[in-house]
Amino acid sequence: MTLRYTLGLAASLALAATAAAAQEGQRTFSSGYRFVEMSGEELYNNVCRACHMADAKGATGAGAYPSLSANPNLQAAGYPVTMVIQGRRAMPPFGDMMNDAQIAAVVNYLRTHFSNNYADIVSAQDVSDARH
Ligand code: HEC
Repeated sequence: MTLRYTLGLAASLALAATAAAAQEGQRTFSSGYRFVEMSGEELYNNVCRACHMADAKGATGAGAYPSLSANPNLQAAGYPVTMVIQGRRAMPPFGDMMNDAQIAAVVNYLRTHFSNNYADIVSAQDVSDARH
């Protein structure tokens, strides 16, 4: 094995490791990341479910994740919109990782599933207004 070959191999291994790390990083909530999912269901499953659980009933353990199921706090649509944009305490803010349409979609999904039956629909414009 020549020295040149050894160096080349080391360099390509390092490159592969960097690419893998970058790909893994995409699933964390790091700043600069933007979700690509567009439907409320996909967004709920890929983002919210991790803490609020598949049935939206939340969990207690290392942390307390409130139930979003049959939740009267969701009646005023502006409340979940603001929660998703800004977060609060152990709930991370997603305002920089989702656009207005995505936030509207996940809030509409939440407010019409999991025993929540709020008929008024949040628009992307509502989310935009809530940001300002
Ligand atoms: C990293 C965990 C985590 C993720 C992910 C998460 N939440 Fe939360 N959420 C929390 C915690 C913790 C609270 C309680 C915040 C507090 O104590 O003030 C909360 C509170 C809420 C509340 C307020 C509930 C109430 O009754 O006051 C809403 C609404 C909510 N989350 C919606 C969502 C939605 C929608 C998503 C996905 C876009 C989401 N959350 C993702 C952890 C999370």
